[in-house]
Amino acid sequence: MASKTSESGHELVEVSRPELERLERHFTPWANGLLRLRPGGWLFPGAFTETADKIYNFGWKEDDVLVTGFLKTGTTWLQEILWTMRNHSNLDHPLANTPILDRVPIIDTDMFINPKGFRSVTPSHPLKPMLDDFKKKCPDGDATQGIYIQMAGVLPEPRTLKTHYPFSVLHPDLLEHTKCVYVARNPRDVVVSLHHMCRLFEYNNYSGTLEQFVDYFVNGDVIQGPYWLHVKEAWEKRNHPNLHFIFYEDLKSDTMKELRRLNDFLGTNLTAEQLDNVKCYTSFGEMQSRNNFTNTKRPDNPGVKKEIEKSDGGFFRKGVTGSWSNTLTPSMVEKIDEWTRKYLSEIPFRYK
Ligand code: A3P
Repeated sequence: MASKTSESGHELVEVSRPELERLERHFTPWANGLLRLRPGGWLFPGAFTETADKIYNFGWKEDDVLVTGFLKTGTTWLQEILWTMRNHSNLDHPLANTPILDRVPIIDTDMFINPKGFRSVTPSHPLKPMLDDFKKKCPDGDATQGIYIQMAGVLPEPRTLKTHYPFSVLHPDLLEHTKCVYVARNPRDVVVSLHHMCRLFEYNNYSGTLEQFVDYFVNGDVIQGPYWLHVKEAWEKRNHPNLHFIFYEDLKSDTMKELRRLNDFLGTNLTAEQLDNVKCYTSFGEMQSRNNFTNTKRPDNPGVKKEIEKSDGGFFRKGVTGSWSNTLTPSMVEKIDEWTRKYLSEIPFRYK
């Protein structure tokens, strides 16, 4: 098996053919296979090899703010909250209502498309619209070096950025100069929300059962997992002055309290009226009706399966705490709880 070492010190090990068949049995296969990182056992698409060191060495600026968190923990909500607090608290920013990924890019997206694919793009190639968008924003850029990371590089300041990467693959000095907001969510709701997303997005196209999905999750076999290690790495840093650790459940149950805490952390000095604007603009109902995450003409729109969207909801699905109780069977709950007790017993998750 081929492997190389990233600057973060991880060995990137190509997943062997039989293991790949097992991991991709119910998912659309990744064009470049999968990698396991050692240590940690992180599971990433093969193109992580192309992007890992670029993100590790990303040129952070002093007033950047980074949203981090595992998939389905509420990171999009935090993206919109932070951007609004920093730019749109008077509800007068000209870019409000434009696609959120233009305003707050996810800097690790290059690994899903593999920058090498830009070497030969014909006018009818599916990557052509993405390349055109990139060329507009970065006329001197080289797409084969990753378009998202370069587009993030030219974003006007103050930049709000997002990554789903765990702290251990980011530069160890990150928190010394950049404020990060980490969001965590109870594992039962994460499983339900992630299962939904994997069925909804065309590029995942999950075809297994919920029960099988729970097994993928607890066995560390979902992409960008394992979730437990993702949370644990952030939890260990929670007392760092540049890290703000927030739980989805707290944000949901007392949004204003959490907005005030964020106001202090970011030093945004928003008034009660401005915080109220932020709360309204980023409420689930408002974000769901704007739907400017997936329902956009952006070339990187992940593509949603209309029949799933109609029957089970779209990207903005329920936006509540505790939807696991209508979805998971008692034995699934027990499996997830056992996993939580084993790996994350110190984290005070709330389930309601
Ligand atoms: P559900 O699938 O449980 O509804 P991420 O952005 O990290 O992918 O997380 C997505 C989850 O956050 C989804 O959970 C989504 O509905 C929820 N979410 C997004 N915006 C929200 C908001 N404004 N308020 C509450 N939940 C929100």
